Amino acid sequence: MAAKLVLVTGASSGIGEATALRYGAAGAHVLLLARNAERLYGVAHAIREAGGTATAFPIDLQGSEATKETAARIEAEIGTPDLLINNAGAGRWLPLVETSPEDARAMIDVPYLAAFNLTRAFAPAMIARRAGGIVFVTSPASYLAWPNASAYIAARRALAGFAEGLQSELKGTGVAVTLVVLGTVDTPYWEHNPDSLENVPSANPWLMPTLSPAQAADAIFAGAARKTLFVVKPAVYRALFVLNALFPKTVASQLRRAAKKARGSKG
Ligand SMILES: NC(=O)c1ccc[n+]([C@@H]2O[C@H](COP(=O)([O-])OP(=O)(O)OC[C@H]3O[C@@H](n4cnc5c(N)ncnc54)[C@H](OP(=O)(O)O)[C@@H]3O)[C@@H](O)[C@H]2O)c1
Repeated sequence: MAAKLVLVTGASSGIGEATALRYGAAGAHVLLLARNAERLYGVAHAIREAGGTATAFPIDLQGSEATKETAARIEAEIGTPDLLINNAGAGRWLPLVETSPEDARAMIDVPYLAAFNLTRAFAPAMIARRAGGIVFVTSPASYLAWPNASAYIAARRALAGFAEGLQSELKGTGVAVTLVVLGTVDTPYWEHNPDSLENVPSANPWLMPTLSPAQAADAIFAGAARKTLFVVKPAVYRALFVLNALFPKTVASQLRRAAKKARGSKG
């Protein structure tokens, strides 16, 4: 890992921050991308304090031109990342009538188009040198659906569709594509995306425990190291995805019930 260059988007908070710290501790040089410069420099500082190295690139990944320019700067000044971790994301879980067209568009811009733009920028050099890894972080919304989060669900499906398409396209090129599906993680996501938490379907905490950011980072780290195609944590979601494919009406009705229960208990 000492020679590795690892780029983490959304490194200013939550899963991305924990992932950046994880790679920093493992000896990688970590490139940190997100909008909040102060927080990003704080994460870079924490990585250095722990004996690692990091460079922060404050950027709004919603802009494709800015993303292209930053990627070109990274290529020129530091080099092509060995590992690109597309983690940055936002999006409110709201009923359709409370979701504005601008919000729906923003959820497609980040995470999906942000991940597309960065991957498009770095993949050619990875393919040319026949080595590299690209990770996508998503939620069970990529494979399941429940009420009051339709625009969020659509955006996560775009991300998963892109990742799966790339897995097929890049097979045999030496570039590994890993899709990481995480259940609920205890991060500032819910503060950053107001009025969303009440639309999280209730889940059995024993079967589907809330993950810590460090556990999420460990799952990303291990999945990328093993070049696993599909990481799912907690693993029980994998069974739910299979059930949903086989019995979509039954799973949909269970999820509707769980969503109603959650709104009842939180509202
Ligand atoms: N928390 C969960 O339960 C959970 C579960 C499964 C999957 N996920 C997914 O994991 C990813 C990370 O979530 P999290 O829980 O760590 O949330 P978080 O604490 O809110 O972190 C989101 C990160 O994305 C960055 N970001 C958002 N919009 C951006 C933009 N336009 N340009 C650049 N960076 C941007 C934020 O940085 P700035 O605000 O500084 O730009 C922040 O660093 C998201 O895609 C989320 O959907 C979360």
